[in-house]
Amino acid sequence: MAWPLVLKPLSLPVIGAPLFIISNPDLVIAQCTSGVIGAFPALNARPKEMLDAWLARITTALFAYEAAHPGAEVAPFAVNQIIHASNDRLGHDLDLCAAYRVPIIITSLAAPVEIVPRVHAWGGLVFHDVISLRHARKAIEAGVDGLILVCAGAGGHAGTLSPFAFVAEVRKIWQGPIALAGAIATGQAVLAARAIGADLAYVGTRFIATDEANADQRYKAMIVASEAADILYTPYFTGVAGNYLRRSVAEAGLDPDHLPDRDKMAMSFESAKATQAVKAWRDIFGAGQGVAAIDDVLPAAEVIARMRREYLAAKDELCRAP
Ligand SMILES: Cc1cc2nc3c(=O)[nH]c(=O)nc-3n(C[C@H](O)[C@H](O)[C@H](O)COP(=O)(O)O)c2cc1C
Repeated sequence: MAWPLVLKPLSLPVIGAPLFIISNPDLVIAQCTSGVIGAFPALNARPKEMLDAWLARITTALFAYEAAHPGAEVAPFAVNQIIHASNDRLGHDLDLCAAYRVPIIITSLAAPVEIVPRVHAWGGLVFHDVISLRHARKAIEAGVDGLILVCAGAGGHAGTLSPFAFVAEVRKIWQGPIALAGAIATGQAVLAARAIGADLAYVGTRFIATDEANADQRYKAMIVASEAADILYTPYFTGVAGNYLRRSVAEAGLDPDHLPDRDKMAMSFESAKATQAVKAWRDIFGAGQGVAAIDDVLPAAEVIARMRREYLAAKDELCRAP
């Protein structure tokens, strides 16, 4: 497929996925200056007036890095907007993104029907994340530039489809950019995403275990110590099914194996609303099955450099395989 110009200078076909509370300007700058797309949820800049300072900091830092390193692969950055009734900052946040001409807007939940023309007006791209073919169709109808397929095992709110099934069926109706999400934490897995028809890997949990991530040491250590079986998939905490570290649930005083049914609980992103005495995302740690491949906490640049080495070595090995 023809890549939109804005996606070209990547050192590795990766988007550092937006992570509630965790993504911050330091992480985004480290990702972009290492050549992968960095992203953060607009809601992480609190109060909302802080978003201006975050955007100023990121754009200035990337510009300065490019000026100091001619020829470096500095990737564009993305801001994640949650399209949901509980997000009453959306208008304010989008106005600021327009002022800074943010290169990529990642939308979650409702199809970004009204957002697409606004973002295109300033020359930006809209990527929308989906967990089903029905949602992919709606996003395509809304005119998005890219789809993010959130598959089984992804950290935070996640789907249940196998990436093999989901990419194949979306490829029948969509030839544009696809980013694939779900337990991708190594360069080999990035290559596998490309092999099955995605253009980019969407990597979240791996970046929680970095020096820059705004997560406490207990959270990072739990990711390093966990295996895929330590991940719990439940709608209990936010009303939408997601993946969390079982141990954080137990340490918050709940029994991960006996959570009451809460299928249709009201959702609130703005306040990360408490379901009981504990707060999803703050006390209950979101993480995907990719924890199995994460054994250390490193600077984000080192994580990306290692993934790139793994990606190139795996590609080389496969090319030489009979
Ligand atoms: C702790 C945590 C917080 C997240 N917060 C958001 C968010 O605010 N907005 C969003 O669109 N996705 C969010 N996600 C989902 C990620 O953007 C991405 O889809 C996911 O991390 C990819 O799967 P992986 O973690 O297995 O790499 C979150 C994921 C985690 C683990």
